[in-house]
Amino acid sequence: MKYLITGGAGFIGSALSRLLAENPENRVVVLDKLTYAGSMGSLRSLKGKSNFRFVCGDIRDRSLVSSLLADEEITTIIHLAAESHVDRSIDSPALVMDTNVMGTLVLLEAALAHWRSFSTAARGNFRFHHVSTDEVFGDLGPADPCFTEQSPYAPSSPYAASKAAADHLVRAWHRTYGLPVVLTNCSNNHGPFQFPEKLIPLTILNALQGVSIPIYGTGGNVRDWLHVEDHARALALVARSGRIGASYNIGGEAECSNLTLVESICDTLDRKKPDPSGRSYRNLITFVTDRPGHDRRYGLDISNIRTELGWTPTYTLNAGIENTIDWYLQNSWWWQPIRDERYGGERLGLEQTRPGTAKDHPSLSAKATILPEMQM
Ligand code: NAD
Ligand code: DAU
Repeated sequence: MKYLITGGAGFIGSALSRLLAENPENRVVVLDKLTYAGSMGSLRSLKGKSNFRFVCGDIRDRSLVSSLLADEEITTIIHLAAESHVDRSIDSPALVMDTNVMGTLVLLEAALAHWRSFSTAARGNFRFHHVSTDEVFGDLGPADPCFTEQSPYAPSSPYAASKAAADHLVRAWHRTYGLPVVLTNCSNNHGPFQFPEKLIPLTILNALQGVSIPIYGTGGNVRDWLHVEDHARALALVARSGRIGASYNIGGEAECSNLTLVESICDTLDRKKPDPSGRSYRNLITFVTDRPGHDRRYGLDISNIRTELGWTPTYTLNAGIENTIDWYLQNSWWWQPIRDERYGGERLGLEQTRPGTAKDHPSLSAKATILPEMQM
């Protein structure tokens, strides 16, 4: 298979690229703009592999995308590139819409032209796999049943609205133009190489640095956690074997409140890397102003992917958290420069940068260059 992975220098995209490139019969081409969230370090283990290529560029650059699809004879696009952080989407919604909605539109248009250039027989092997989120469904009350693939869309944040819009575009390109698509909606991921703006890595790094660990509101909000390697396996499976036009929920069946999760991270760190003062890291937990529009609970019914494709999560939440903590303890080479130079842990998402989003709103004519061999 010849894959184009958009957003492959990000957290989930890099896990997926590492997995796919293990098979020498696969060709893996990553297209990533290297925004603040992208990192060549996350692809370090792929450096020099003959079945892997990294291209630095913008998914909104139609001519770049079209030439890549043609030159590499791509048969499967797995689309992950996005602005992925809810808090940043509250501060800079226009950038999020440009990337997540218009970027998906450009990809769909390029993919459609590419697919139409195939023979009738070859068309059947092509897939456009759109990677989405459980946040498109809005939130659940404490006793509500989990979201199924048929749950109505009710996004709460600018990020969730942009992902919902992109999902609708993908389905429309299937229904109207016949483009062979599959979609997946996944719950919260954790694991190696996650940018430390998200709850779990932020908690680990703040604890190690001895600074406060912010809990939004009461900490009673519930998320369903999945290890990124389980997600990557599910994505590879759906891209290969998913039914055309279908969407699949992917989740960990591991719901947990934010406060319970953060306390358990603190307790694990107390065991693995005790604070020299002897105080528990729990003392750093600080309740702060809630996220505007904060979704209360996410939970996914994953029976479809389980029964149809035989996928199931392999990490329990405890095992996954241990693995994630161990990785951050052992890999400061990856996160220390990010923490020092790109994001030091300050609070985001309180609209402090609004109005006046112009600086965050690049024109749609963004250009990018193909750099066949980027430094890793
Ligand atoms: P991430 O922020 O770690 O990575 C996003 C990547 O996209 C970065 O490498 C960035 O450089 C790249 N990118 C951004 N704009 C681009 C552009 N215009 N052109 C090319 N590349 C661009 O995100 P992630 O957590 O790995 O999420 C990946 C995808 O999975 C997203 O679509 C997200 O909505 C979805 N998702 C994430 C989670 C999660 O828990 N992290 C859960 C469900 C779904
Ligand atoms: O559900 C899937 C989504 O999970 C993905 O689509 C998103 O790309 C991904 O970022 C994630 O979104 P969340 O908003 O759930 O993730 P985040 O890590 O930002 O927050 C998790 C929970 O923790 C949420 O309820 C907000 C809370 N939180 C977050 C941060 C950063 C805190 O209490 N304190 C914090 O400092």
